[in-house]
Amino acid sequence: MRFKLLLTIQLLLFSITLTAEEGMWIPSLLKGYTIEQMQKKGFKLNAEDIYSVNKACLKDAVVIFGNGCTAELISDKGLIITNHHCGFEQIQKHSTQSRNYLKDGFWAQNQQEELINPDLTVTFLIKMEDVTDSVLAGIPDSLNYQQKQIEIEDNIERIEANAIKNTHYKAKVKPFFHGNQYFLFINEVFKDVRLVGAPPSAIGKFGGNTDNWMWPRHNADFALFRIYADKNNRPAEYSENNIPYFPKKHLSISAKGIKEGDFTMLMGYPGSTNQYAPSHHIHMLLDQIYPELTNIRKEKLSIIDSYQRKDEEIQIKYAVKYAKISNTYKRWIGEQKGLKKQKAIEAKIKYEQEIKNWINDSLDEHHPYKDIFPKYDSLYNNYAHYFLALKYMYELLFYNGMELVEYSGSFKPLLNNYLSDPIKHSQKLIEAKKSISSFYKNYHQPLDKELTIKLLSIYKNKLPEELWPKTYHTIDKKFKGNIDHFVNTIYKKSAFTDSLKLSSLLKNFNKKSYLKLEKDPVLILYQDFYFVYGSKIYYQHKDLEDKISSLNQQYMQAIKVYQSNKIFYPDANSTLRVTYGNVKGYEGDDAIFYDYQTTLSGMIEKDNPEKSDFKVPAKLKQLFTFKDYGQYNNSTLPLCFIASNHTTGGNSGSPVLNADGHLIGINFDRAWEGVMSDLMYNPKQCRNISLDIRFVLFFIEKYANADYLLKEMTILK
Ligand code: ARG
Ligand code: GLU
Repeated sequence: MRFKLLLTIQLLLFSITLTAEEGMWIPSLLKGYTIEQMQKKGFKLNAEDIYSVNKACLKDAVVIFGNGCTAELISDKGLIITNHHCGFEQIQKHSTQSRNYLKDGFWAQNQQEELINPDLTVTFLIKMEDVTDSVLAGIPDSLNYQQKQIEIEDNIERIEANAIKNTHYKAKVKPFFHGNQYFLFINEVFKDVRLVGAPPSAIGKFGGNTDNWMWPRHNADFALFRIYADKNNRPAEYSENNIPYFPKKHLSISAKGIKEGDFTMLMGYPGSTNQYAPSHHIHMLLDQIYPELTNIRKEKLSIIDSYQRKDEEIQIKYAVKYAKISNTYKRWIGEQKGLKKQKAIEAKIKYEQEIKNWINDSLDEHHPYKDIFPKYDSLYNNYAHYFLALKYMYELLFYNGMELVEYSGSFKPLLNNYLSDPIKHSQKLIEAKKSISSFYKNYHQPLDKELTIKLLSIYKNKLPEELWPKTYHTIDKKFKGNIDHFVNTIYKKSAFTDSLKLSSLLKNFNKKSYLKLEKDPVLILYQDFYFVYGSKIYYQHKDLEDKISSLNQQYMQAIKVYQSNKIFYPDANSTLRVTYGNVKGYEGDDAIFYDYQTTLSGMIEKDNPEKSDFKVPAKLKQLFTFKDYGQYNNSTLPLCFIASNHTTGGNSGSPVLNADGHLIGINFDRAWEGVMSDLMYNPKQCRNISLDIRFVLFFIEKYANADYLLKEMTILK
């Protein structure tokens, strides 16, 4: 291959030197350099102890929890621990006003009391395998990127089907290094996962959105669940005959405590990062995208907040929505700050210049990477335009934007199938009827109306006329440009503004209901936006994105050839990864230095009965007053700690392990100054935040009085 030839003429430069802490490593590829680095830092086990297909190992104790979090096995009876915020939905679903587990917490006192969660799964990794050759087999080089992707999809489908023939496993092939490598994952999915215990939100969510993404933190963000299996220890739908799952491996818990400098390692399922993006991408985000998106979210949050302040019921209805909007909003702000502070664009440009020089120096007119940068240069401007438009659409139509408009859109399939497919239609009718109670339960119309008016105005002000849905012209003509007036009018006419009216329309669904809903002005507004999305944004964006993906694939190859004796880690893609680092404080803004550990005293110091997110429950205060820490009968009770592990969203709930592979903490967040690590890791400031396992043990013993759980665990003192 051509780039093998290039290898011989390249200069061995080390421009992007990975710091020891950076990297989300593939567990099956640790042998050699990576495990040696880990051992140099203090790790006492070897690669086979982490990932092996021949013996029980750490990977057998780490699972995907639900769709996006990580959890780990902590007993031989299927007990798992994850974050409170990962189990939030389940805890909420079991809560009613009289049994409010969100507020008061929940602790099963025996297995019979555990709560069933119909839609919750946990996923084990049985094994993973490099299948790059089979994925690319038979695909001619002459095809373009998009054509190749189609062939690749076909191959993947076949590989997945073959891999699990006659088994109860699931298979998934995923691209790594921007499509330069492919791995097959064989998984086992368990479907009977029950809630065992959760602290009150006042403890599990202490500090709320205010403290979110921040250090120092005093939040005991954990919850316990249990996996059940059939009598053969295999996955099964819920049944009362199911028995606790007997795992191949569960983690031992170290109650010995931590100190600064200790080796830490984390395993989990990081969702997505973009470490090898060209400077153009960072430039686009900082210049064109984040300022706009943060502005929209700021408006959303301020409107929701103004209603929440007035009315406690609205406060509750919009609590989860607010948290979701604010979580990403806050991260974007942190990312911008962090990227600017470490001069990310300049650093990337400098590196790209080296690559350009290397390409130019090769004197090869047909250098395979010659076109990468000129193409990036020409694509990104146009790309930013559609990228922004797409993001705007998402902010308006999804992500808690124009809620009623979005909700009306969910009726499209019902209407579309009415004339053509009666069976599908009746399915959709059942779903629509069900959706009514869940939608309106957490909906407040005046708030949504104000938000809709705001978002419609922002869209019009910010995006070029060619991307305006035709509604804007109607507003200009019939409502003299008055968006307020327009929204008030359509909300008055719409059936979606009145849940009773909507229910009765669905009750005996007939031609009249069909015609009525089809002409509903709120749904028309939805369709209007959707039409622009479908005709002027989606495909244009997709086309440019494919072109950029194709360049990213080449650029990744180029980087790997250029620094051929460096070991690279692939971007996160929701597959199992290993990261390692140390327990470590960090430098914040000027003159600020952060220590690595917080304690219960800090939580008590933050106690503020006036602020809903900072109310320490009386029982915890009492335990504090009497220093009644059980087996931690000393003056301080550790609560959270930070370390330099490279993590991202999806790592929530990940086990933090010490040099012996014993559990010392549960990962739940990152510190503000380092959230840009998804794009560029900075060892000085990037820290993951974990709950100290000793607090969990104390809590189960002294607060939850669930000693039987401690007896199941393997606790090393
Ligand atoms: N920032 C963490 C994450 O990205 C925690 C989010 C949940 N906590 C919250 N206060 N909203 O998932
Ligand atoms: N809280 C995040 C999660 O749910 C982890 C924090 C991060 O992004 O590192 O996955």
